[in-house]
Amino acid sequence: MERRDFLKAGLALGAAAGGGIVTLANAKTAPDLRPGETLRLNSNENPLGLSPAARRAILDGLDEANRYPRDSRVQLIEALAALHGVEPENIVLGNGSTEVLQMSVQALATPRSRLVLADPTFEDVPWYALPFPYELVRVPLDGRFAHDLEAMRRAASSAAGPALVYICNPNNPTGTLTPSAEIDDWIEAAPETVSFLVDEAYFEYCEDPAYWSCVKWVDKPNVIVARSFSKIYGMAGIRLGYGVAHDETAGRLRQFIGKNNANHLVLVAALAALNDEGLIPRSRAANAEGMNILHRALDELGLEYLPSHTNFVMHRIRGELDTYRERMAAHGVRVGRPFPPMLDYNRLSIGLPEEMSRFVEVLREFRSAGWV
Ligand SMILES: Cc1ncc(COP(=O)(O)O)c(C=O)c1O
Repeated sequence: MERRDFLKAGLALGAAAGGGIVTLANAKTAPDLRPGETLRLNSNENPLGLSPAARRAILDGLDEANRYPRDSRVQLIEALAALHGVEPENIVLGNGSTEVLQMSVQALATPRSRLVLADPTFEDVPWYALPFPYELVRVPLDGRFAHDLEAMRRAASSAAGPALVYICNPNNPTGTLTPSAEIDDWIEAAPETVSFLVDEAYFEYCEDPAYWSCVKWVDKPNVIVARSFSKIYGMAGIRLGYGVAHDETAGRLRQFIGKNNANHLVLVAALAALNDEGLIPRSRAANAEGMNILHRALDELGLEYLPSHTNFVMHRIRGELDTYRERMAAHGVRVGRPFPPMLDYNRLSIGLPEEMSRFVEVLREFRSAGWV
C-alpha cells in the first residue's frame, strides 16, 4: 500500500471493536477507516521511512550479499570516525545501539559493581544487568524531569566498588534534557572507578543550546557514548548503532561483540544515510510539525505534557494507563508502554503530520466519551 493510502486508511481496528465501546467507525471525522491498519505511535521510529539514498544503497548492495561485510564495515567505521573527529579504533558497531549498551554492561561488570541510573529511564540497561551481580540504584528524575546528577553522584561515590552510571540524554521515556554542562562537570571531576554510559539515541533531534555530545570525552577511558541509526536515520528495522569510546575501552567492549554483527546491507545504507545531507533537516521539520499538532490538541484538551527534545512526548492521561492503551489499540492506535512510576502519563511517538491529525481525532473522541 502507498504511504498516502495508508494515511487515508488511518485508524482502523476501531471499526472492529464494536460493543459498548465508542469507535471511530461511526465517526464523521474518520470516514474511510479500513480494518487491519494501525497507527504506530509507540516505538519512537522515524515515520518518513528510509532515506531514498539508503534504499538505493541497499538495492545496489544486494550484489555483495554473498560476501562477508569487511569493506563496508571498514568504510562505515571510517566515516563515523571522521564525523566525530576520532580514530576508527574509537568506534564500536552494534546490532542497534542496544548491543552497545549490552556490551558496556557486560564489559564493566565486576562482582562489586553498582549501576546507577535514573527512574524512569530506558529499560535495556537494567535488563542487561540482570544476569550480573550489579547492585542497582535507581535515582528519581528531579523537578525538571532531568537526571538528578547530585543524587546520582552520591550514589556512585558511596559505592564499595566501581560504579557504572547510565545517563540517557535526552531521556527516554520523558524526552527531557539534562544540561550537558552539568554532566561535563561530573565527568571532569569523577574518579576512574566511576564509568559513564551516555545514551544519545535521540541526539539529532535535540537542538537546544544547553545540549551537546559527550563524545568530547573520548580521551577518558571511563566514558562510553552510544548512538543509534534507528531514530532520526529511520533504520530501526535493519538494526545499527555504535559506541564511541577511548580505544582501550572500545577494545574491552569488543570482547563481547558478535562477530560481523552489522550486515552488509545495513552498513551501506548507513553510509548513504550519513551522506544524505537533507535527511536530518527533513526529519526534524516533519517531527516539529507533528509535535505542533499534538501540542495544540493537548493544550486544547488541558492534558499536561513534558517539554520534549526528541520524537516523542510524555503526556498526562486521565484514568488507568492500561485501559487507555487497550482503548487506543481498539481504535487502531499503538501508543507507548507503561513506564513506572509515571503511570498517569503516556509516551506518544510523533508520526507524520497526517498521522498526528488522525491521533488527535481519536483523542477528541476519547474526550467526548469521558475517557481522557
Ligand atoms: C534511549 C534509547 N537507547 C537505545 C535504544 C535502542 O535503539 P536501537 O534500535 O539503536 O538498538 C532506544 C530505542 O528505543 C532508546 O530509546
